[in-house]
Amino acid sequence: SAAEKGGYDYFMLKEIAEQPQAIADTLLGRLSERGEIVLDEVRLTDQDLRDVDKVFIVACGTSYHAGMVAKYAIEHWVRIPCEVELASEFRYRDPILDRSTLMIVISQSGETMDTLMALRHAKEQKARVLAICNTNGSTIPRESDAVLYTHGGPEIAVASTKAFVTQLVACYLIGLHLAQIRGVMYADEVAAVVSKLQATPDALRELLGGMEDVRALARDLRTASTILFIGRHVGFPVALEGALKLKELAYMHAEGFAAGELKHGPIALIDEGTPVVCVVPSPAGRGVLRDKVVSNIQEVRARGARTIVIAEEGDDAVRAYADHLIVVPRTPTLLAPLMTTVPLQILACEIAAARGHDVDQPRNLAKSVTVE
Ligand code: G6P
Repeated sequence: SAAEKGGYDYFMLKEIAEQPQAIADTLLGRLSERGEIVLDEVRLTDQDLRDVDKVFIVACGTSYHAGMVAKYAIEHWVRIPCEVELASEFRYRDPILDRSTLMIVISQSGETMDTLMALRHAKEQKARVLAICNTNGSTIPRESDAVLYTHGGPEIAVASTKAFVTQLVACYLIGLHLAQIRGVMYADEVAAVVSKLQATPDALRELLGGMEDVRALARDLRTASTILFIGRHVGFPVALEGALKLKELAYMHAEGFAAGELKHGPIALIDEGTPVVCVVPSPAGRGVLRDKVVSNIQEVRARGARTIVIAEEGDDAVRAYADHLIVVPRTPTLLAPLMTTVPLQILACEIAAARGHDVDQPRNLAKSVTVE
């Protein structure tokens, strides 16, 4: 009913709007006043976490994209190798796991069969398994050695939105926790990231308040035959997630690429008017990365692409390359997916609605897939 949807047309729009609160709730009680990470609920000892020499992250769908972002954060902060893999591929290739492997499984529902089978395989190999899950008491956290729950609240729409951003937050917390315990980051460095994390709910509220242009753009793009998405670094999984949302909801062809791979093939797809969504990294911190994406935007534009550019507030130089500019609040590079994903969720949702689809119940999809 309309009341259940809180006045929104779809559960998905309601859940998109709930993201700032979902992030705040997932941070709640896990940070000390001094900006340390407090994860006593995670039942792995500090010694276990110090012994870890490799991290595997395994998940499906949108949760897998959260895992891809986590890899960048964990390797940068913790300085241990981290691999991310689709659960349906993981156990069939004989991965090398042992007691000092930390396996992180990410699942909104906690019931995805592929993820559950991967977790069982890892446990047989004696890896320590930590679940990130949104559903209390579900199978995946029950079978794991430890769990960090995301506090997104129930997610009704089939396409995952608030669960995704809370999974990112959980991954950041685990990364910082590991870095803190292992002494690879100083307390003030952890506290600096924590304060940026704490600022993200307000920043996201501000972003959500200014999405009218994205809605208009969606109506305009509803007849496109394909939409491409490009990004680098953590913008790459964001591009994949933007494309996945569009496939799920709008039943349109969409693909995400690492922007650097364009020249190795995908650029041949670009034709006059092909919409390309470009996720631009922050000019602060890793300026080189931002400039590389900007030159990729120029390359696709020179071949006729219509560019939809997502860039950080203050990056004025990017305007010259954008047919449509979507501005997101300033955020440190690793945390940027908390911002940049959100306009892509809205874009897909609005394109699907404009095409007359049932946004909350897309054809052929299930919220939780309990078969392999
Ligand atoms: C299904 C859903 C996706 C979800 C994936 C993984 O395919 O339609 O939205 O990302 O399963 O689900 P999980 O519950 O394990 O995160």
